[in-house]
Amino acid sequence: MLHRSWFPDRLVGDRVILKRHVSANLAAFMRWYADPEVSRLTRYQDGPMARPEIERFFQARVLGSDSLAMAIHERATDRLLGTCAFSQLDGENGSALFHITIGEKDVWGKGFGTEATRLMVEHAFERLRLHRIGLSVFAFNERAIRSYRHAGFVIEGHAREAIRRDDRWWDEVEMSILDSDWRAQLAAAADASAASAASVAAPRGSADRASGAASGETTNAGGTLTDPATGRPADAPSIGRSR
Ligand SMILES: CC(C)(COP(=O)(O)OP(=O)(O)OC[C@H]1O[C@@H](n2cnc3c(N)ncnc32)[C@H](O)[C@@H]1OP(=O)(O)O)[C@@H](O)C(=O)NCCC(=O)NCCS
Repeated sequence: MLHRSWFPDRLVGDRVILKRHVSANLAAFMRWYADPEVSRLTRYQDGPMARPEIERFFQARVLGSDSLAMAIHERATDRLLGTCAFSQLDGENGSALFHITIGEKDVWGKGFGTEATRLMVEHAFERLRLHRIGLSVFAFNERAIRSYRHAGFVIEGHAREAIRRDDRWWDEVEMSILDSDWRAQLAAAADASAASAASVAAPRGSADRASGAASGETTNAGGTLTDPATGRPADAPSIGRSR
């Protein structure tokens, strides 16, 4: 199991901030997991969790030491929106399972879940040095599947007709992201940014180029500004990096 020192105090994005859970968050869990719509999307069992079950889940899986659970807050207001976690952290095989619930339904579909997922994925690959993150999602949960795809997860299989909901059978969709997928995303984003910098830099006049040279920046044949120390584009992005 991963050591607790790998547990971040916070992960900061543009619109969300992930923080360690505190005991007072139990009240929000009681509300979220008692909601039939949330439970439909997150539970194998039909119907919401009973209060004692929510409390046990919160103590063991949220505050407990065998998963890495973070509270999702809106950065601008500090409002608690939901929770996300890695469970089954396996240091030997470099793998974990990812889970997320935005419990506040009024903010579904506004991008918070995707950003929280990206922050967790970045932490897993950049800090924990994991190799693979897996998850499973019910096939009818199209919003979640779309969000996971945006964060770089790919569908790797289906557990056929694994869940009974709304009087019919549904597949469970297995998704994963590997560290190589993550690095390929970063490289693609850096390439896209370099290409857009090139298209902006190209029309510049000679005065701009002179001032760039004076500040130590150089331009390559395509007109891209490059950092003389690294040869990389001067404004290569730190896509998805937490601050
Ligand atoms: C799944 C979840 C984490 C996604 O987070 P989110 O902040 O709502 O999602 P995002 O806005 O980041 O992304 C959702 C995407 O699906 C789209 N979407 C929104 N509602 C949708 C719907 N009903 N059907 C299909 N797509 C939908 C959004 O437009 C967005 O795609 P786009 O960026 O291409 O426009 C969140 O909705 C949630 O926690 N839901 C309840 C619990 C749950 O389902 N957990 C996952 C269990 S596996």
